[in-house]
Amino acid sequence: MRKQSVKLKDGREVVLRLLLLDDKEQLLSMVTSLSADALMWSSPPYDEEKVNRWMSGTKSGLSIVAIFNSRLVGIAAVYQFPRPRQIGIAEMMIYIHQDFHGVGLGTMMTENLLVLARNKGLHRIGLEVVEENGAAVWLYKKLGFEVEGILKEAYYGADGKYHNMLVMGILLSKN
Ligand SMILES: CC(C)(COP(=O)(O)OP(=O)(O)OC[C@H]1O[C@@H](n2cnc3c(N)ncnc32)[C@H](O)[C@@H]1OP(=O)(O)O)[C@@H](O)C(=O)NCCC(=O)NCCS
Repeated sequence: MRKQSVKLKDGREVVLRLLLLDDKEQLLSMVTSLSADALMWSSPPYDEEKVNRWMSGTKSGLSIVAIFNSRLVGIAAVYQFPRPRQIGIAEMMIYIHQDFHGVGLGTMMTENLLVLARNKGLHRIGLEVVEENGAAVWLYKKLGFEVEGILKEAYYGADGKYHNMLVMGILLSKN
């Protein structure tokens, strides 16, 4: 993926590029500054251990970050499963700092990720998302992911209640 500058709905410009080894500190600082609202339907803790796992994405060329004025404000990544019976099968995640929600960044990052995944010849990308995570569910559906199933009450929310999770997926190539 070539580094590219994109304009958000509010006029701000961010650079989209692949995740680099040097991004670790910035990534840690972004995830540790996510608000309770932004993390409402996520899977804490967001700590160095998680960021170290995400940094493994520098090797695959399937992790994209968004940079605004030298500050890392978003990450979206696809991870391929390593086993032989899961060749071409992957899962995805996306986190955007709350200062950049609702201005089209998630859409642009996911679109770019899907292009990268197609170019790598991936067959399927799947994910699980809490049913109430409206922005995420809408974003995935808009870009072609389908709801394939429901995991009943598989998520324990910050509200102290259990919530359904949707299993969503997109097939990138024909069988
Ligand atoms: C989910 C997330 C990636 C979306 O990114 P974003 O940059 O805000 O998304 P965009 O601005 O590109 O698009 C959001 C869309 O959802 C819509 N939307 C926002 N809130 C919504 C809601 N509660 N219900 C339905 N749609 C909603 C917006 O109107 C917009 O639609 P449009 O593109 O048709 O105009 C971002 O909110 C985020 O990082 N959240 C925290 C982490 C997270 O939940 N990740 C997903 C875990 S599976």
